[in-house]
Amino acid sequence: MSTTKSAELATPAAETFTLTENSTGRTFELPVIKGTTGPDVIDVRKLYAETGCFTYDPGFTSTGSCESRITYIDGDAGILLYRGYPIEELAEQSDFMEVCYLLLYGNLPSVEEKEKFRRDITYHTMVNEQINYFFRGFRRDSHPMAVMCGVVGALSAFYHDSTDITDPHHRMVASHRLIAKMATIAAMTYKYSLGQPFIYPRNDLKFSENLLHMMYATPCEEYSVNPVLARAMRRILILHADHEQNASTSTVRLAGSSGANPFACIAAGIASLWGPAHGGANEAVLNMLEEIGSKDHIPEYIKRAKDKDDPFRLMGFGHRVYKNYDPRAKVMQKTCHEVLDELGMRDTPLLELAMELERIALEDEYFVEKKLYPNVDFYSGTILKAIGIPVEMFTVIFATGRTPGWIAHWNEMISSPYRIGRPRQLYRGPSKRDYVPMDKR
Ligand code: SDX
Repeated sequence: MSTTKSAELATPAAETFTLTENSTGRTFELPVIKGTTGPDVIDVRKLYAETGCFTYDPGFTSTGSCESRITYIDGDAGILLYRGYPIEELAEQSDFMEVCYLLLYGNLPSVEEKEKFRRDITYHTMVNEQINYFFRGFRRDSHPMAVMCGVVGALSAFYHDSTDITDPHHRMVASHRLIAKMATIAAMTYKYSLGQPFIYPRNDLKFSENLLHMMYATPCEEYSVNPVLARAMRRILILHADHEQNASTSTVRLAGSSGANPFACIAAGIASLWGPAHGGANEAVLNMLEEIGSKDHIPEYIKRAKDKDDPFRLMGFGHRVYKNYDPRAKVMQKTCHEVLDELGMRDTPLLELAMELERIALEDEYFVEKKLYPNVDFYSGTILKAIGIPVEMFTVIFATGRTPGWIAHWNEMISSPYRIGRPRQLYRGPSKRDYVPMDKR
């Protein structure tokens, strides 16, 4: 794990911003801190003590919450780097285990390091047999994200030997357990919804193959995983592995800042990811495409997406950071064509509808002016559906891919000096008033 002290993370202040209070003429010097690349930050940590004012930034559109060395995004240029490596190169040339190692430890592994890491993860893929009974408390038709959230949160009830967050060994074991067991729990969630028996992980299979095997094998016959689907799943997991300080990663960091155990923190991240504005968008894209139904209905939905009085949004479009094409969406689209070609499903109406929707949206001045491009979720659902994964399982797959990112950020925070996250507010409620007894109201 990175043991860098937070002091080494920040470069010395290169310049300052001067804040002037017009009513008194008082000035305040705010240091500017430069990172390796990307926007500088104005250090406002002393602002409240010196001015008595808070900063105000609902939704954190202009706020850097932490220092990090893990992932860099340039939203205007459509760039995404994991520890400096472009996502396009990793998606094409790497595999999910190597990307997990890279996110956790900061560099690409040697042959020996990769083999040891793969083995460490593989031998953590089984879950405690008692966890099987957890599933029985859920209805078979429960949303898989509700099940995954509950079961992952319960993991801390089983692994007391890796919840001492001050112990680097405990942190490493918990990190390996979470990466390994998310795929097993994801598959168990799917099997439970079908009423089929759980399939144990296999130590002779690679991560993506194992996930698909646990999802689709049955005890009744041998099941061999289609290599095309395994490659597609591997790429999907890599593309989802991390994305800087997004809502679910920020949730994991905030939960972790109280000293909560990593299993509870990842469960909090899963809960946040579930929302349709975030990781739930892949499921929402498919539901939207099903609702649109045919190309001639597209103009009506584009009109609705632009109507301020209509809550409908074009799911899979827009992004807080990307004001250009999401680089993951490009790789996902390419993978989509490859998978559908190789499966002989090229002229899937769903893909044709998605591509026509993208074409029309990208020509519409509303989307152009607001820089609303397809994001990672726009094409992922089409691939997952082609792989045979049901729509309600899409975000479960997203969570499985995002776990190394969540846990890398958690480790980065916990292994350096940190403080509990505790934002303040702009209070607009009633001023102090005395209690009124019932007979006087
Ligand atoms: C993910 O943060 C991450 O990195 C997330 C993620 C990751 O890997 O972790 O990348 C994964 O969550 C991708 C995003 C998936 N969500 C969706 O596809 C849902 C649809 N998209 C929108 O809900 C929206 O674009 C967000 C939530 C993604 C971004 O929201 P913002 O940055 O708060 O932008 P906004 O809602 O303020 O929109 C800005 C303007 C608004 O119009 P105005 O009020 O300025 O007139 O753009 C409009 C919005 O109405 N707009 C859309 C739109 N997205 C934004 N209009 C129609 N359809 C859309 N999809």
